[in-house]
Amino acid sequence: RPRVLSGIQPTADSFHLGNYLGAVRNWVTMQETHDAFFCVVDLHALTVGPDPAQLRARTRASAAQLFAAGLDPERCTLFVQSHVPEHAQLAWVLNCLTGFGEAGRMTQFKDKSLKQGADRTTVGLFTYPVLQAADILLYQADAVPVGEDQRQHLELTRDLAQRFNTTYGRTFTVPAPHIVRDTAKIADLQDPGAKMSKSASTPNGLIELLEPTNRIVKKIKSAVTDTGREIVYDPENKAGVSNLLTIYAALTGRTIDDLTAAYDGKGYGDLKKDLAEVVVAFVEPIQQRTRMYLDDPAQLDKLLAIGGEKARSVSSRTLARAYERVGLVAAA
Ligand code: TYM
Repeated sequence: RPRVLSGIQPTADSFHLGNYLGAVRNWVTMQETHDAFFCVVDLHALTVGPDPAQLRARTRASAAQLFAAGLDPERCTLFVQSHVPEHAQLAWVLNCLTGFGEAGRMTQFKDKSLKQGADRTTVGLFTYPVLQAADILLYQADAVPVGEDQRQHLELTRDLAQRFNTTYGRTFTVPAPHIVRDTAKIADLQDPGAKMSKSASTPNGLIELLEPTNRIVKKIKSAVTDTGREIVYDPENKAGVSNLLTIYAALTGRTIDDLTAAYDGKGYGDLKKDLAEVVVAFVEPIQQRTRMYLDDPAQLDKLLAIGGEKARSVSSRTLARAYERVGLVAAA
């Protein structure tokens, strides 16, 4: 079976629909076809300086949501990044192969450091993508299911794998991004030109999996649409409506053509009303199952401990090989 690895940051109380449709949904399908590893990347979350108690709570809530969304501990390995020390260890080796300018060209770094301000930007934020490369390469992943915004980080990962392999001999699988075009960039409901994001300017632009359903309904009803009244799929000129259609299609399995035909002659209000129902019906069971996992933190921690063990059995072998290749003396 081909190997897959992906990660998600515990930087919010809830994942949003962009995280789910761009990434997590594909994780759930790929656990059937791949040897699958998924991690809650708490070390990455440290780059935004979270409150310790909040980080701890969000890490568990993230794992609970992933199980609730359909990751099955029998079918995949879900773990917490910091439980597997090899991630930070391999990241150091890769840091020593990454150009300073190369890291400086990462657009997510440039955007985030601009937002944080030069004085508050840490070295951790700078090397964030190198830690991400370590996450992936440790598991010899063939494929990495992510949204469009991760493409550049995956390009860096591939470059680092190739560089290591040419310098020290074949050690790492060079991973391919797995980006499903239709849902790779879910847009902000209030600003359809931008991606849905936890750091959006207004909370009304994003739909959180765990938020009260009446709020979800309100947000969908007040989503920015476009002038005109026709329901057509035209991402260039009608980004708002097209985004709603994308979400609708993804959650129901219906095609965009089928939807536009069904809404021919109807208005935006009809579309929004029905989509709100679809989204609520989708999140309700996830909310329920998330609560169930969070109600039993001991059991949740146990599942994560098992995942961490399984992950380490792979990552420790890869790290030992990489350490050996670069010339580190193995402890006797
Ligand atoms: P993060 O936590 O920001 O996002 C998790 C996943 O959600 C996707 N995503 C979206 N997809 C479609 N539309 C959107 N609006 C949208 N917003 C977010 C992201 O592309 C991502 O797949 N750097 C990563 C975490 C990471 C990682 C890894 C990923 C760390 N190590 C190793 C893959 C492999 C991140 O910030 O994801």
